[in-house]
Amino acid sequence: MKNTTFAAATALSLLAAGLAVSSIKTPGGVLGDAAAAPGDIDAPPQIAALLHRACYDCHSNRTRWPWYGRVAPVSWLVARDVAHGRRELNFSEWRTYYPQTRMRKLQWMERVVSERVMPPWDYRLMHRQARLSDAEQVALTQWIQSAIAEAQQSRAGGGAVAAGSSRSR
Ligand code: HEC
Repeated sequence: MKNTTFAAATALSLLAAGLAVSSIKTPGGVLGDAAAAPGDIDAPPQIAALLHRACYDCHSNRTRWPWYGRVAPVSWLVARDVAHGRRELNFSEWRTYYPQTRMRKLQWMERVVSERVMPPWDYRLMHRQARLSDAEQVALTQWIQSAIAEAQQSRAGGGAVAAGSSRSR
């Protein structure tokens, strides 16, 4: 998909634009909405800040629409990316995911962050703040790994946690 030519993508977008743009520009997506949404992923402040900087434009309901995102036909491509990104992973709706789903998404996140596939390079080009330094990439990866471990543990503990039988770590 990423490699579709601009023309083809634009043609596709022409079809999708009406739908996409109208469904994306919901009140939830307003700029400068600082308060965390109730469904937001729970992470320590430094990690949350990295996710906001590097991921939230496409993977949350709080997209800060870039100026070039208001100019057609690029706006259609941006809208399509955001719609697609939110469908794959939406940090604003994290708490509505089933534990199994969270686990899967965390595993995807670990892969894309460690391989530096996300944020997409063309986005990094336009958004300096979305670039993660080596230290930031390591911190984010470590947090994702600990979240996976935690999710695994709570799954293994199942309903029997109250028994206190788990030899943690
Ligand atoms: C410019 C928009 C944009 C930004 C910023 C962005 N993503 Fe994405 N992301 C997408 C799109 C579009 C898809 C779905 C299509 C694809 O896989 O390329 C996606 C897919 C994903 C997936 C699913 C991968 C898979 O295997 O299908 C994960 C996980 C992900 N992104 C994590 C992140 C994380 C973590 C960040 C921040 C560090 C981030 N993304 C930043 C647009 C973005």
